[in-house]
Amino acid sequence: MNDYKLPSLRQAARRSKEVVIEDNLFVLPEELKTLGKGKKYFIRTHGCQANERDSETISGILNDMGYTAADDASEADLILINTCAIRENAELKVLGEFGFFKEYKRRNPDLLLAMAGCMAQEEKTVEEILRKYPQVDLIFGTHNIYRLPLLLERAVREKKRVVEVYSKQGEVIENLPASRALSHKAWVNIMYGCDKFCTYCIVPYTRGKERSRRMGEIVEEVRQLKEAGYKEVTLLGQNVNAYGLDLGMESGFAQLLEEVAKTEIPRIRFTTPHPRNFDEEAVAMLAKYPNIMPSFHLPVQSGSNRVLKAMNRSYTRETYLDLFDRIKKTVPGASFTTDIIVGFPNETEEEFLETLSLYDYCAFDNAFTFIFSPRAGTPAAKIEDLTPREVKEDRLRRLNEKVVYYAKKHNLEYQDRIVEVLTDGPSKKRSDIYAGYTKENKLVNFQGKDLRPGDLVQVKITECHNFSLNGVAIEKD
Ligand code: SAH
Ligand code: SF4
Ligand code: F3S
Repeated sequence: MNDYKLPSLRQAARRSKEVVIEDNLFVLPEELKTLGKGKKYFIRTHGCQANERDSETISGILNDMGYTAADDASEADLILINTCAIRENAELKVLGEFGFFKEYKRRNPDLLLAMAGCMAQEEKTVEEILRKYPQVDLIFGTHNIYRLPLLLERAVREKKRVVEVYSKQGEVIENLPASRALSHKAWVNIMYGCDKFCTYCIVPYTRGKERSRRMGEIVEEVRQLKEAGYKEVTLLGQNVNAYGLDLGMESGFAQLLEEVAKTEIPRIRFTTPHPRNFDEEAVAMLAKYPNIMPSFHLPVQSGSNRVLKAMNRSYTRETYLDLFDRIKKTVPGASFTTDIIVGFPNETEEEFLETLSLYDYCAFDNAFTFIFSPRAGTPAAKIEDLTPREVKEDRLRRLNEKVVYYAKKHNLEYQDRIVEVLTDGPSKKRSDIYAGYTKENKLVNFQGKDLRPGDLVQVKITECHNFSLNGVAIEKD
Protein backbone atom coordinates (compact mmCIF):
# COMPACT_ATOMS: atom_id res chain seq x y z
CA MET A 1 0.00 0.00 0.00
CA ASN A 2 1.19 3.50 -0.70
CA ASP A 3 0.01 6.79 0.70
CA TYR A 4 -0.02 8.71 -2.56
CA LYS A 5 -2.20 11.77 -2.88
CA LEU A 6 -3.20 11.84 -6.56
CA PRO A 7 -4.71 14.63 -8.67
CA SER A 8 -8.36 14.75 -9.76
CA LEU A 9 -9.40 16.96 -12.67
CA ARG A 10 -13.03 16.87 -11.58
CA GLN A 11 -12.16 18.32 -8.20
CA ALA A 12 -9.81 20.81 -9.82
CA ALA A 13 -12.67 22.22 -11.92
CA ARG A 14 -14.77 23.26 -8.90
CA ARG A 15 -15.14 26.94 -8.16
CA SER A 16 -16.36 28.79 -5.09
CA LYS A 17 -16.31 32.47 -4.25
CA GLU A 18 -14.17 32.20 -1.15
CA VAL A 19 -10.57 33.49 -1.32
CA VAL A 20 -8.20 32.34 1.39
CA ILE A 21 -5.06 34.39 2.00
CA GLU A 22 -2.51 32.57 4.15
CA ASP A 23 0.20 34.61 5.83
CA ASN A 24 1.86 31.84 7.85
CA LEU A 25 1.34 28.61 5.96
CA PHE A 26 4.96 27.99 5.04
CA VAL A 27 7.03 26.65 7.91
CA LEU A 28 10.56 25.32 7.87
CA PRO A 29 11.27 23.22 10.96
CA GLU A 30 14.71 23.85 12.46
CA GLU A 31 15.91 20.30 11.76
CA LEU A 32 15.16 20.66 8.03
CA LYS A 33 17.33 23.76 7.63
CA THR A 34 20.34 21.46 7.24
CA LEU A 35 18.76 18.60 5.27
CA GLY A 36 20.50 19.78 2.11
CA LYS A 37 23.86 20.61 3.63
CA GLY A 38 26.65 19.72 1.21
CA LYS A 39 24.10 18.83 -1.49
CA LYS A 40 23.36 20.51 -4.79
CA TYR A 41 20.14 21.00 -6.72
CA PHE A 42 19.34 21.68 -10.34
CA ILE A 43 15.99 23.01 -11.56
CA ARG A 44 14.80 22.79 -15.16
CA THR A 45 11.80 25.05 -15.83
CA HIS A 46 9.29 24.63 -18.66
CA GLY A 47 6.22 26.68 -19.54
CA CYS A 48 5.15 30.18 -18.72
CA GLN A 49 6.32 32.92 -16.38
CA ALA A 50 4.13 31.48 -13.61
CA ASN A 51 6.42 28.48 -13.62
CA GLU A 52 9.55 30.65 -13.85
CA ARG A 53 8.36 32.46 -10.75
CA ASP A 54 7.46 29.21 -8.97
CA SER A 55 10.97 27.91 -9.65
CA GLU A 56 12.31 30.99 -7.86
CA THR A 57 10.19 30.02 -4.86
CA ILE A 58 11.42 26.43 -5.02
CA SER A 59 15.04 27.68 -5.18
CA GLY A 60 14.36 29.93 -2.21
CA ILE A 61 13.04 27.00 -0.18
CA LEU A 62 15.94 24.73 -1.17
CA ASN A 63 18.51 27.42 -0.29
CA ASP A 64 16.86 27.79 3.12
CA MET A 65 17.23 24.03 3.57
CA GLY A 66 20.99 24.21 3.07
CA TYR A 67 21.11 23.08 -0.56
CA THR A 68 23.18 25.04 -3.07
CA ALA A 69 22.47 25.51 -6.77
CA ALA A 70 24.45 23.35 -9.21
CA ASP A 71 25.71 24.83 -12.47
CA ASP A 72 24.93 21.65 -14.29
CA ALA A 73 22.49 18.77 -13.78
CA SER A 74 25.36 16.28 -13.78
CA GLU A 75 26.63 17.64 -10.44
CA ALA A 76 23.26 17.65 -8.71
CA ASP A 77 21.96 15.48 -5.86
CA LEU A 78 18.43 16.71 -6.57
CA ILE A 79 17.10 17.36 -10.07
CA LEU A 80 13.70 19.00 -10.19
CA ILE A 81 11.70 19.49 -13.37
CA ASN A 82 9.06 22.19 -13.15
CA THR A 83 6.70 21.00 -15.86
CA CYS A 84 4.18 22.52 -18.29
CA ALA A 85 1.03 20.82 -19.56
CA ILE A 86 -0.17 23.38 -22.08
CA ARG A 87 0.47 21.30 -25.23
CA GLU A 88 1.45 17.74 -25.98
CA ASN A 89 4.95 18.65 -27.18
CA ALA A 90 5.67 20.45 -23.88
CA GLU A 91 4.81 17.21 -22.09
CA LEU A 92 6.81 14.99 -24.42
CA LYS A 93 9.88 17.12 -23.78
CA VAL A 94 9.56 16.56 -20.05
CA LEU A 95 9.03 12.82 -20.42
CA GLY A 96 12.16 12.72 -22.59
CA GLU A 97 14.09 14.47 -19.84
CA PHE A 98 12.98 11.92 -17.28
CA GLY A 99 14.32 9.27 -19.65
CA PHE A 100 17.59 11.17 -19.97
CA PHE A 101 18.08 11.67 -16.24
CA LYS A 102 17.49 7.98 -15.58
CA GLU A 103 21.11 7.49 -16.72
CA TYR A 104 22.29 9.95 -14.08
CA LYS A 105 20.60 7.85 -11.44
CA ARG A 106 22.49 4.78 -12.55
CA ARG A 107 25.72 6.65 -11.88
CA ASN A 108 24.49 8.20 -8.64
CA PRO A 109 21.86 6.03 -6.91
CA ASP A 110 21.32 8.71 -4.25
CA LEU A 111 20.21 11.24 -6.84
CA LEU A 112 16.63 12.39 -6.28
CA LEU A 113 14.49 13.16 -9.32
CA ALA A 114 11.47 15.38 -8.66
CA MET A 115 8.52 16.55 -10.74
CA ALA A 116 6.66 19.77 -9.99
CA GLY A 117 4.32 22.04 -11.92
CA CYS A 118 1.30 21.64 -14.16
CA MET A 119 1.87 18.09 -15.44
CA ALA A 120 1.84 16.92 -11.83
CA GLN A 121 -1.74 18.23 -11.63
CA GLU A 122 -2.94 15.93 -14.42
CA GLU A 123 -4.43 12.55 -13.56
CA LYS A 124 -3.33 10.78 -16.73
CA THR A 125 0.21 12.08 -16.62
CA VAL A 126 0.78 11.10 -13.02
CA GLU A 127 -0.66 7.62 -13.74
CA GLU A 128 1.80 7.29 -16.60
CA ILE A 129 4.74 8.43 -14.50
CA LEU A 130 3.83 5.95 -11.78
CA ARG A 131 3.59 3.13 -14.31
CA LYS A 132 6.52 3.86 -16.58
CA TYR A 133 8.98 6.16 -14.84
CA PRO A 134 10.15 4.54 -11.59
CA GLN A 135 13.12 6.92 -11.60
CA VAL A 136 10.83 9.80 -10.50
CA ASP A 137 11.09 9.93 -6.69
CA LEU A 138 8.96 12.91 -5.78
CA ILE A 139 5.83 14.41 -7.37
CA PHE A 140 4.16 17.53 -6.05
CA GLY A 141 1.90 20.11 -7.68
CA THR A 142 1.32 23.82 -8.04
CA HIS A 143 -0.74 24.12 -4.83
CA ASN A 144 1.66 22.58 -2.33
CA ILE A 145 5.08 24.04 -3.08
CA TYR A 146 5.03 25.24 0.52
CA ARG A 147 5.09 21.57 1.61
CA LEU A 148 8.38 20.89 -0.19
CA PRO A 149 10.58 20.66 2.94
CA LEU A 150 8.41 17.93 4.47
CA LEU A 151 8.00 16.05 1.20
CA LEU A 152 11.73 16.13 0.52
CA GLU A 153 12.48 14.92 4.01
CA ARG A 154 10.22 11.93 3.44
CA ALA A 155 11.80 11.17 0.07
CA VAL A 156 15.35 11.46 1.46
CA ARG A 157 14.89 9.71 4.81
CA GLU A 158 12.37 7.02 3.92
CA LYS A 159 13.88 6.38 0.50
CA LYS A 160 10.50 5.77 -1.05
CA ARG A 161 8.49 7.48 -3.71
CA VAL A 162 6.48 10.45 -2.46
CA VAL A 163 3.44 11.72 -4.37
CA GLU A 164 1.37 14.59 -3.06
CA VAL A 165 -0.81 16.65 -5.37
CA TYR A 166 -3.75 18.78 -4.20
CA SER A 167 -6.62 19.35 -6.60
CA LYS A 168 -8.08 22.26 -4.76
CA GLN A 169 -8.95 25.76 -5.81
CA GLY A 170 -5.92 27.11 -4.01
CA GLU A 171 -5.11 29.89 -1.64
CA VAL A 172 -2.81 32.90 -1.76
CA ILE A 173 0.28 32.02 0.25
CA GLU A 174 2.21 35.09 1.29
CA ASN A 175 5.20 33.95 3.31
CA LEU A 176 7.17 31.88 0.81
CA PRO A 177 10.86 32.62 0.29
CA ALA A 178 12.25 33.30 -3.20
CA SER A 179 15.65 33.25 -4.79
CA ARG A 180 15.26 35.42 -7.84
CA ALA A 181 16.98 34.43 -11.05
CA LEU A 182 17.99 38.00 -11.97
CA SER A 183 19.04 41.10 -10.08
CA HIS A 184 17.57 43.74 -12.42
CA LYS A 185 14.24 42.32 -13.67
CA ALA A 186 11.67 40.54 -11.53
CA TRP A 187 8.42 38.66 -11.92
CA VAL A 188 5.77 39.76 -9.44
CA ASN A 189 2.69 37.59 -8.99
CA ILE A 190 -0.44 39.67 -8.69
CA MET A 191 -2.92 36.82 -8.96
CA TYR A 192 -3.04 33.08 -9.41
CA GLY A 193 -5.24 30.63 -11.29
CA CYS A 194 -7.83 31.07 -13.99
CA ASP A 195 -11.63 30.95 -14.10
CA LYS A 196 -12.07 31.49 -17.83
CA PHE A 197 -12.16 27.82 -18.87
CA CYS A 198 -11.32 28.35 -22.51
CA THR A 199 -12.40 25.01 -23.95
CA TYR A 200 -8.93 24.03 -25.19
CA CYS A 201 -6.99 24.97 -22.08
CA ILE A 202 -5.72 22.92 -19.13
CA VAL A 203 -4.60 25.87 -16.98
CA PRO A 204 -7.84 26.33 -14.96
CA TYR A 205 -7.45 22.69 -13.86
CA THR A 206 -3.73 22.87 -13.07
CA ARG A 207 -3.64 26.26 -11.35
CA GLY A 208 -6.95 26.53 -9.53
CA LYS A 209 -9.31 29.44 -9.35
CA GLU A 210 -8.62 33.11 -9.96
CA ARG A 211 -7.43 34.65 -6.73
CA SER A 212 -5.69 37.95 -6.15
CA ARG A 213 -2.97 39.00 -3.77
CA ARG A 214 -3.70 42.00 -1.58
CA MET A 215 -2.71 45.23 -3.28
CA GLY A 216 -0.60 46.41 -0.34
CA GLU A 217 1.51 43.26 -0.49
CA ILE A 218 2.17 43.63 -4.21
CA VAL A 219 3.08 47.30 -4.00
CA GLU A 220 5.37 46.63 -1.05
CA GLU A 221 7.13 43.88 -3.00
CA VAL A 222 7.71 46.27 -5.92
CA ARG A 223 8.96 48.96 -3.55
CA GLN A 224 11.47 46.56 -2.04
CA LEU A 225 12.60 45.39 -5.45
CA LYS A 226 13.18 48.99 -6.47
CA GLU A 227 15.19 49.63 -3.33
CA ALA A 228 17.27 46.54 -4.10
CA GLY A 229 18.15 48.07 -7.47
CA TYR A 230 15.64 46.33 -9.74
CA LYS A 231 14.75 48.29 -12.88
CA GLU A 232 11.82 46.30 -14.19
CA VAL A 233 8.89 44.33 -12.83
CA THR A 234 6.47 42.20 -14.81
CA LEU A 235 3.12 41.79 -13.09
CA LEU A 236 2.00 38.20 -13.52
CA GLY A 237 -1.32 36.43 -13.77
CA GLN A 238 -3.27 34.37 -16.30
CA ASN A 239 -5.74 37.28 -16.68
CA VAL A 240 -4.10 40.24 -15.02
CA ASN A 241 -6.95 42.59 -15.71
CA ALA A 242 -9.31 40.44 -13.66
CA TYR A 243 -7.13 41.53 -10.74
CA GLY A 244 -9.15 42.31 -7.63
CA LEU A 245 -12.53 41.08 -8.91
CA ASP A 246 -12.40 38.27 -6.34
CA LEU A 247 -11.59 40.79 -3.59
CA GLY A 248 -14.63 42.86 -4.54
CA MET A 249 -12.57 45.67 -6.08
CA GLU A 250 -13.82 47.70 -9.02
CA SER A 251 -11.25 48.38 -11.76
CA GLY A 252 -8.72 46.68 -9.53
CA PHE A 253 -6.14 46.31 -12.26
CA ALA A 254 -6.16 50.02 -13.08
CA GLN A 255 -5.81 50.85 -9.39
CA LEU A 256 -2.97 48.41 -8.98
CA LEU A 257 -1.14 49.69 -12.06
CA GLU A 258 -1.38 53.21 -10.70
CA GLU A 259 0.01 52.27 -7.29
CA VAL A 260 2.82 50.25 -8.84
CA ALA A 261 3.62 53.12 -11.23
CA LYS A 262 3.85 55.52 -8.28
CA THR A 263 6.71 53.49 -6.80
CA GLU A 264 8.71 54.95 -9.71
CA ILE A 265 10.32 51.66 -10.59
CA PRO A 266 11.64 52.49 -14.08
CA ARG A 267 9.83 49.83 -16.09
CA ILE A 268 6.52 48.06 -15.55
CA ARG A 269 5.17 45.32 -17.76
CA PHE A 270 2.30 42.89 -17.27
CA THR A 271 1.24 39.56 -18.68
CA THR A 272 -1.23 38.22 -19.63
CA PRO A 273 -4.27 40.42 -20.07
CA HIS A 274 -7.52 38.86 -21.28
CA PRO A 275 -9.54 41.05 -23.66
CA ARG A 276 -12.71 40.34 -21.66
CA ASN A 277 -11.85 42.16 -18.42
CA PHE A 278 -9.90 45.04 -19.98
CA ASP A 279 -11.98 48.00 -18.76
CA GLU A 280 -11.79 51.69 -19.73
CA GLU A 281 -9.98 52.62 -16.52
CA ALA A 282 -7.20 50.13 -17.31
CA VAL A 283 -6.89 51.39 -20.89
CA ALA A 284 -6.61 54.98 -19.66
CA MET A 285 -4.00 54.01 -17.08
CA LEU A 286 -1.67 52.67 -19.76
CA ALA A 287 -0.86 56.20 -20.87
CA LYS A 288 -0.91 57.97 -17.52
CA TYR A 289 2.55 56.97 -16.26
CA PRO A 290 5.71 56.85 -18.39
CA ASN A 291 7.04 53.84 -16.47
CA ILE A 292 4.23 51.65 -17.79
CA MET A 293 5.88 50.19 -20.89
CA PRO A 294 4.17 50.65 -24.27
CA SER A 295 4.22 46.98 -25.17
CA PHE A 296 1.16 44.81 -24.84
CA HIS A 297 0.65 41.09 -25.22
CA LEU A 298 -3.03 40.67 -26.05
CA PRO A 299 -3.84 37.07 -27.00
CA VAL A 300 -6.56 36.83 -29.65
CA GLN A 301 -6.42 33.06 -30.44
CA SER A 302 -8.59 33.35 -33.56
CA GLY A 303 -10.14 35.93 -35.88
CA SER A 304 -13.34 33.95 -36.40
CA ASN A 305 -16.39 34.53 -34.24
CA ARG A 306 -17.54 30.91 -34.63
CA VAL A 307 -14.18 29.64 -33.41
CA LEU A 308 -13.91 32.22 -30.62
CA LYS A 309 -17.30 31.09 -29.37
CA ALA A 310 -16.32 27.42 -29.54
CA MET A 311 -13.19 28.33 -27.61
CA ASN A 312 -15.31 30.10 -24.96
CA ARG A 313 -13.17 33.22 -25.26
CA SER A 314 -16.17 35.44 -24.44
CA TYR A 315 -15.31 38.24 -26.88
CA THR A 316 -15.85 38.64 -30.58
CA ARG A 317 -13.56 39.70 -33.39
CA GLU A 318 -15.26 43.10 -33.31
CA THR A 319 -14.91 43.68 -29.56
CA TYR A 320 -11.26 42.54 -29.69
CA LEU A 321 -10.50 44.97 -32.52
CA ASP A 322 -12.34 47.74 -30.74
CA LEU A 323 -10.17 47.19 -27.64
CA PHE A 324 -7.06 46.98 -29.79
CA ASP A 325 -7.93 50.30 -31.47
CA ARG A 326 -8.62 52.00 -28.15
CA ILE A 327 -5.30 50.93 -26.66
CA LYS A 328 -3.50 51.95 -29.82
CA LYS A 329 -5.13 55.36 -29.74
CA THR A 330 -4.34 55.78 -26.05
CA VAL A 331 -0.70 54.72 -26.41
CA PRO A 332 0.51 55.79 -29.86
CA GLY A 333 3.57 53.88 -30.98
CA ALA A 334 2.85 50.93 -28.69
CA SER A 335 3.90 47.47 -29.80
CA PHE A 336 1.43 44.60 -29.76
CA THR A 337 2.01 40.87 -29.63
CA THR A 338 -0.49 38.04 -29.50
CA ASP A 339 -1.10 34.28 -29.20
CA ILE A 340 -2.93 32.38 -31.94
CA ILE A 341 -4.12 28.78 -32.16
CA VAL A 342 -4.66 27.32 -35.62
CA GLY A 343 -6.53 24.12 -36.29
CA PHE A 344 -9.02 24.34 -33.46
CA PRO A 345 -11.32 21.33 -34.09
CA ASN A 346 -13.04 21.72 -37.45
CA GLU A 347 -11.75 25.23 -38.12
CA THR A 348 -12.55 25.87 -41.79
CA GLU A 349 -10.33 27.54 -44.38
CA GLU A 350 -12.64 30.59 -44.33
CA GLU A 351 -12.37 30.81 -40.56
CA PHE A 352 -8.60 30.57 -40.78
CA LEU A 353 -8.59 33.36 -43.40
CA GLU A 354 -10.42 35.52 -40.87
CA THR A 355 -7.49 34.99 -38.50
CA LEU A 356 -5.10 36.08 -41.25
CA SER A 357 -7.16 39.17 -42.02
CA LEU A 358 -7.28 40.09 -38.34
CA TYR A 359 -3.52 39.70 -38.26
CA ASP A 360 -3.21 42.08 -41.23
CA TYR A 361 -5.39 44.61 -39.46
CA CYS A 362 -3.44 44.49 -36.20
CA ALA A 363 -0.02 44.04 -37.86
CA PHE A 364 1.35 42.53 -34.65
CA ASP A 365 5.01 43.04 -33.78
CA ASN A 366 5.27 39.34 -33.01
CA ALA A 367 3.11 36.36 -32.12
CA PHE A 368 3.26 32.97 -30.47
CA THR A 369 1.50 30.60 -32.83
CA PHE A 370 0.38 27.08 -32.05
CA ILE A 371 -1.43 24.14 -33.55
CA PHE A 372 -4.35 23.10 -31.33
CA SER A 373 -3.28 20.30 -29.01
CA PRO A 374 -6.07 18.28 -27.36
CA ARG A 375 -5.70 18.26 -23.55
CA ALA A 376 -7.32 15.34 -21.75
CA GLY A 377 -10.26 16.47 -19.64
CA THR A 378 -10.94 19.72 -21.52
CA PRO A 379 -14.16 20.15 -23.56
CA ALA A 380 -12.39 20.78 -26.89
CA ALA A 381 -10.52 17.49 -26.62
CA LYS A 382 -13.87 15.69 -26.88
CA ILE A 383 -14.86 17.25 -30.22
CA GLU A 384 -14.47 14.92 -33.17
CA ASP A 385 -11.94 16.75 -35.31
CA LEU A 386 -12.11 16.17 -39.06
CA THR A 387 -9.31 18.53 -40.10
CA PRO A 388 -6.22 16.61 -41.28
CA ARG A 389 -2.89 17.32 -39.61
CA GLU A 390 -1.29 18.49 -42.89
CA VAL A 391 -3.95 21.16 -43.27
CA LYS A 392 -3.19 22.45 -39.77
CA GLU A 393 0.53 22.46 -40.43
CA ASP A 394 0.00 24.36 -43.64
CA ARG A 395 -2.10 26.95 -41.81
CA LEU A 396 0.60 27.38 -39.19
CA ARG A 397 3.17 27.88 -41.94
CA ARG A 398 1.03 30.50 -43.69
CA LEU A 399 0.38 32.30 -40.42
CA ASN A 400 4.06 32.27 -39.52
CA GLU A 401 4.89 33.90 -42.86
CA LYS A 402 2.71 36.81 -41.78
CA VAL A 403 4.34 36.88 -38.36
CA VAL A 404 7.78 37.24 -39.94
CA TYR A 405 6.55 39.77 -42.50
CA TYR A 406 5.17 42.15 -39.87
CA ALA A 407 7.98 41.57 -37.38
CA LYS A 408 10.46 42.62 -40.03
CA LYS A 409 8.34 45.57 -41.13
CA HIS A 410 8.16 46.93 -37.59
CA ASN A 411 11.83 46.36 -36.89
CA LEU A 412 12.87 48.20 -40.07
CA GLU A 413 11.23 51.33 -38.64
CA TYR A 414 13.98 51.38 -35.99
CA GLN A 415 16.86 52.00 -38.42
CA ASP A 416 19.01 54.92 -37.13
CA ARG A 417 16.70 55.61 -34.21
CA ILE A 418 18.03 56.17 -30.70
CA VAL A 419 16.27 53.98 -28.16
CA GLU A 420 16.51 53.34 -24.42
CA VAL A 421 17.68 49.80 -23.69
CA LEU A 422 17.67 47.99 -20.36
CA THR A 423 20.89 45.96 -20.38
CA ASP A 424 20.57 42.26 -19.56
CA GLY A 425 24.28 41.52 -19.78
CA PRO A 426 27.11 40.71 -22.16
CA SER A 427 26.54 38.15 -24.88
CA LYS A 428 27.99 34.69 -24.30
CA LYS A 429 30.34 34.98 -27.24
CA ARG A 430 31.70 38.53 -27.01
CA SER A 431 32.17 40.63 -23.89
CA ASP A 432 31.82 43.94 -25.76
CA ILE A 433 28.42 42.98 -27.16
CA TYR A 434 25.46 43.34 -24.84
CA ALA A 435 21.84 42.31 -25.08
CA GLY A 436 18.82 44.16 -23.74
CA TYR A 437 15.29 45.29 -24.49
CA THR A 438 13.72 48.56 -25.59
CA LYS A 439 10.60 49.95 -23.97
CA GLU A 440 8.60 48.32 -26.75
CA ASN A 441 10.23 45.02 -25.79
CA LYS A 442 12.48 44.76 -28.86
CA LEU A 443 15.61 42.69 -28.38
CA VAL A 444 18.74 44.76 -29.10
CA ASN A 445 22.31 43.44 -29.41
CA PHE A 446 24.63 46.38 -29.08
CA GLN A 447 28.23 47.42 -28.65
CA GLY A 448 29.03 48.99 -25.31
CA LYS A 449 31.67 49.23 -22.63
CA ASP A 450 31.70 48.28 -18.95
CA LEU A 451 27.97 47.81 -18.70
CA ARG A 452 26.18 45.84 -16.02
CA PRO A 453 22.82 44.12 -16.01
CA GLY A 454 20.28 46.79 -15.16
CA ASP A 455 22.06 49.69 -16.85
CA LEU A 456 19.68 51.83 -18.89
CA VAL A 457 21.51 53.04 -21.97
CA GLN A 458 20.78 55.01 -25.10
CA VAL A 459 21.51 52.92 -28.16
CA LYS A 460 21.64 53.95 -31.79
CA ILE A 461 20.18 51.26 -34.02
CA THR A 462 22.45 50.37 -36.92
CA GLU A 463 20.93 47.17 -38.31
CA CYS A 464 17.47 45.62 -38.27
CA HIS A 465 16.75 41.90 -38.36
CA ASN A 466 13.41 40.12 -38.26
CA PHE A 467 13.41 39.46 -34.53
CA SER A 468 16.26 41.61 -33.19
CA LEU A 469 18.05 44.90 -33.71
CA ASN A 470 21.77 45.73 -33.66
CA GLY A 471 23.16 48.97 -32.33
CA VAL A 472 25.84 50.97 -30.55
CA ALA A 473 25.54 52.46 -27.06
CA ILE A 474 25.96 56.20 -27.19
CA GLU A 475 25.70 57.15 -23.56
CA LYS A 476 25.67 55.43 -20.20
CA ASP A 477 22.80 55.96 -17.75
N1 SAH B 1 -3.78 33.07 -19.95
C1 SAH B 1 -3.24 33.39 -21.17
C2 SAH B 1 -2.48 32.31 -21.89
C3 SAH B 1 -2.03 31.08 -21.23
S1 SAH B 1 -1.48 29.76 -22.21
C4 SAH B 1 -4.37 33.84 -22.05
O1 SAH B 1 -5.50 33.49 -21.88
O2 SAH B 1 -4.11 34.52 -23.00
C5 SAH B 1 -0.54 30.49 -23.49
C6 SAH B 1 -1.07 30.22 -24.86
O3 SAH B 1 -1.00 28.85 -25.16
C7 SAH B 1 -2.52 30.56 -25.07
O4 SAH B 1 -2.72 31.92 -25.27
C8 SAH B 1 -2.88 29.73 -26.27
O5 SAH B 1 -2.63 30.43 -27.46
C9 SAH B 1 -1.94 28.55 -26.17
N2 SAH B 1 -2.65 27.32 -25.80
C10 SAH B 1 -3.30 27.06 -24.65
N3 SAH B 1 -3.85 25.82 -24.70
C11 SAH B 1 -3.55 25.30 -25.90
C12 SAH B 1 -3.84 24.06 -26.56
N4 SAH B 1 -4.58 23.13 -25.98
N5 SAH B 1 -3.35 23.87 -27.80
C13 SAH B 1 -2.61 24.82 -28.42
N6 SAH B 1 -2.31 26.00 -27.85
C14 SAH B 1 -2.77 26.25 -26.61
FE1 SF4 C 1 -6.19 29.20 -20.50
FE2 SF4 C 1 -8.13 30.78 -21.31
FE3 SF4 C 1 -7.35 30.84 -18.76
FE4 SF4 C 1 -5.75 31.80 -20.65
S1 SF4 C 1 -7.77 32.62 -20.10
S2 SF4 C 1 -5.17 30.45 -18.99
S3 SF4 C 1 -6.15 30.44 -22.37
S4 SF4 C 1 -8.36 29.17 -19.80
FE1 F3S D 1 2.25 25.61 -18.79
FE2 F3S D 1 1.10 25.62 -16.44
FE3 F3S D 1 2.05 27.86 -17.45
S1 F3S D 1 0.41 24.50 -18.21
S2 F3S D 1 1.83 27.58 -19.63
S3 F3S D 1 3.24 26.10 -16.89
S4 F3S D 1 0.25 27.64 -16.19
